[in-house]
Amino acid sequence: MTDAARTTATISRLGHQGDGVADGPLFAPRTLPGETVSGIAEGSRLTSIRIETPSEHRVQPPCRHYKSCGGCQLQHASDSFVAEWKTDVVRNALSAQGLETEFRTIHTSPARSRRRATLAVRRTKKGAMAGFHGQASDVITEIPDCQLLEPALMAAIPVAEALALAGASRKTPLAVTVTTSEAGLDMLVKNGKPLDGPLRIELAQLADRHRITRLTWDDELVAMEQPPVQPFGTALVCPPPGAFLQATREGEAALLDGVLEITKGAKRIVDLFAGCGTFALPLAQAAEVHAVEGEREMVAALDAGWRKAKGLKKVTTETRDLFRNPLLPEDLNPFGAAFDAAVIDPPRAGAEAQIAQLAKARTPVIAYVSCNPVSFARDAKTLVAAGYSLDWVQAVDQFRWSAHTELVARFTLKD
Ligand SMILES: C[S@@+](CC[C@H](N)C(=O)[O-])C[C@H]1O[C@@H](n2cnc3c(N)ncnc32)[C@H](O)[C@@H]1O
Repeated sequence: MTDAARTTATISRLGHQGDGVADGPLFAPRTLPGETVSGIAEGSRLTSIRIETPSEHRVQPPCRHYKSCGGCQLQHASDSFVAEWKTDVVRNALSAQGLETEFRTIHTSPARSRRRATLAVRRTKKGAMAGFHGQASDVITEIPDCQLLEPALMAAIPVAEALALAGASRKTPLAVTVTTSEAGLDMLVKNGKPLDGPLRIELAQLADRHRITRLTWDDELVAMEQPPVQPFGTALVCPPPGAFLQATREGEAALLDGVLEITKGAKRIVDLFAGCGTFALPLAQAAEVHAVEGEREMVAALDAGWRKAKGLKKVTTETRDLFRNPLLPEDLNPFGAAFDAAVIDPPRAGAEAQIAQLAKARTPVIAYVSCNPVSFARDAKTLVAAGYSLDWVQAVDQFRWSAHTELVARFTLKD
């Protein structure tokens, strides 16, 4: 390719996926604002990119796999740049709704702290290989020096390969979701061969040999040496296979610190989109909690964790679809015995219907945990229009080196 065929562009900002964006728009992955870059324009994408003038924020990626692996998107940027960019993503989402607030310093999880990952694993001519998919591709990159995963999760890579040798077809790679737990590795395998008698025996032996504490094959439990429990406050919960869990212990602690601070002094708290009790169970050390969640198995896990724990206040649970059937003011203020505070931690879509009802119920304090600044800002606007103040936002980066941002925010009802 001659240099004449190359396009030169100046990157003005990063897009939602962390790609650099130049006028056009022209998307240039792994570039930074202010950089002059050249490459081949293919539609709205620049490929074969060369950095002509690097940004002062450009750094040597800490991981040797970064070039080929698609697990991370922002390793070429300094930590301070990423921290500021992620904070700005939240600030800009709020400002698009006409809102501003105080921002606390972002909390970033350390390297090698991810406790859950889904590995792509396939059989090869010589054996098997496990890793992450490459950037926008089906090719699997091996990641023996990955900087994201906890050491205990790294230890799962050869185990995932052994699972593929036993039960992957030649054509389809396995998707192996691995979570570290107090009892050892919790592994959920998808896309494997159908589970017949001999395979079941082989997998059970493999789980025993590699100390997999729970092995689930599609939806079937194959082996459980001990329940793979997670500590939530003083309670121990055994989540259903593959159930939602905050991505790092440090990120979870930062979100929980925010939630505890916001709800301090409350005697009755409603925890909406409660999962397996990440917030509800620690909150129950000081307050009665009503935990509401859409997945029946998660509710059961939360309830069982509470029943086995000692010294917690009362926790009641409810399985409910909070999109279609949000808690209404009469549920939130039953017979005048109102909840003093609400915690709400919805999926990416946010909680439009439930937030409208919380605003009507005039619950005095709301801790909003979000994994999507855009839906958060939309819901924040509803609360502010109903008379709440958005006191502060704490951004939490538990998906280090990705374009993802999470946060916890405090809303209080003005007099
Ligand atoms: C971001 S997770 C938070 C879970 C929990 N708060 C935690 O920190 O572990 C969102 C939760 O909302 C639940 N969820 C998703 N859609 C729902 C719906 N329509 N109604 C109720 N819960 C729902 C999911 O099952 C998941 O547990």
